[in-house]
Amino acid sequence: MKLAIILGTRPEIIKMGPVIRECQKRGVDYFILHSGQHYSENMDKVFFEEMELPPPKYNLGVGIHPYRKQIGRMIKEICDILIKERVDIVIVEGDTNTVLAGALAANKIGVKLAHHESGLRSHDLRMLEEINRITTDHISDYLFAPTKDALKNLHEEGLPGYKIFHSGNTIVDAIHQNLEIANKKVNVLKDFNLEEKNFILVTAHRAENVDDPKTLKEIVEGLSLVQGYFGIPMIYPIHPRTRKRMNEFGISFPENINFVEPMGFLEFLQLESNAKLILTDSGGVQEEACTLKVPCVTMRESTERPETVKQGVNIVSGTDSHKILESAKEVIGGDKNWENPFGDGRAAERIIKRLSEIFKDEKKNP
Ligand code: UD1
Ligand code: UDP
Repeated sequence: MKLAIILGTRPEIIKMGPVIRECQKRGVDYFILHSGQHYSENMDKVFFEEMELPPPKYNLGVGIHPYRKQIGRMIKEICDILIKERVDIVIVEGDTNTVLAGALAANKIGVKLAHHESGLRSHDLRMLEEINRITTDHISDYLFAPTKDALKNLHEEGLPGYKIFHSGNTIVDAIHQNLEIANKKVNVLKDFNLEEKNFILVTAHRAENVDDPKTLKEIVEGLSLVQGYFGIPMIYPIHPRTRKRMNEFGISFPENINFVEPMGFLEFLQLESNAKLILTDSGGVQEEACTLKVPCVTMRESTERPETVKQGVNIVSGTDSHKILESAKEVIGGDKNWENPFGDGRAAERIIKRLSEIFKDEKKNP
């Protein structure tokens, strides 16, 4: 079985890390194809280095090209590489433009396609990612659903049962594999003068939030209100997209929030695990907060991770500044059930085992 692991952004590198390690462990013939959608050192290289992952065999460098040209370029170049490398199976993870391009390329040239983190639905088509998820799921041959809710979505959309497999999410594997290493290698609380369970951690970068000046201003005001109410430090490793938009729209950076550069995974994981509260619009951060048992407010209108909301550990606040504050107060005080819906940390093992078995069977009975 020759496997192409396609990735392109920060969360894909983090969540594919355990898949890559599993391939190494089992001696699977694989290579990494990086689209280069993310390219800054602190959004890309730092993750390969910290998690000791092998460098990508290919990097398409699309991130430096205009946004409108990226998907077309990726599809063309990925097709050429899949043919040249005589790939049997492509695996993609999540819902980015790189995922969509990898999926379309595999589909167009008849290479089998596996999608990890399939079945997530926000039911909000204003999110670019929702279109990418639905399209990828419907052209995939193997669907690895991380949770029971995701499984249900796939069945309800009529996708054939034989394609669907409940794997868990590799983010839990990544947390298990890296938290201990983080605690040995980094001391980010000391670096930023923070105390355990006495600070608030923030991330926000969703296009539908930060590309709209009114929404972004409202979110920043909400963060400032939350910091003022709780009176403890607030740290925000700000995504380059958000920083760029704050500058473009002339939104000022409130002084009661510590805006810092994006961090490596070890540093960020250590911050998450020690935070009193997390405010985010990230998908992966919602999963991590739930896994690490840290209350979370999701500053969006919807989430494709409803499991966390059902357990009372995550509140979807919308983007109104006062609602953000009210949600923060509520989630800190509320009743919580911390059962982890994202799995037991063995998702990558299940995915690679399953793909190897299917490949053997299909070779025997084409
Ligand atoms: C992308 C994904 C989003 C995912 C996020 C993870 C799509 C449609 N969006 O959003 O689903 O949640 O990655 O972080 O695929 N930039 C840099 N350096 C980088 C990367 C980005 O400066 O390494 C800046 C550039 O100005 C770039 C902008 O951020 O134009 C947006 O980057 P892009 O990859 O288009 O989208 P993200 O917002 O990162
Ligand atoms: N993350 C990180 N450093 C940071 C911010 C986030 O390593 O400064 C990690 C975080 O732990 C999570 C992932 O990046 O695993 C989430 O990525 P992002 O929020 O960019 O994308 P999303 O999950 O929303 O697609």
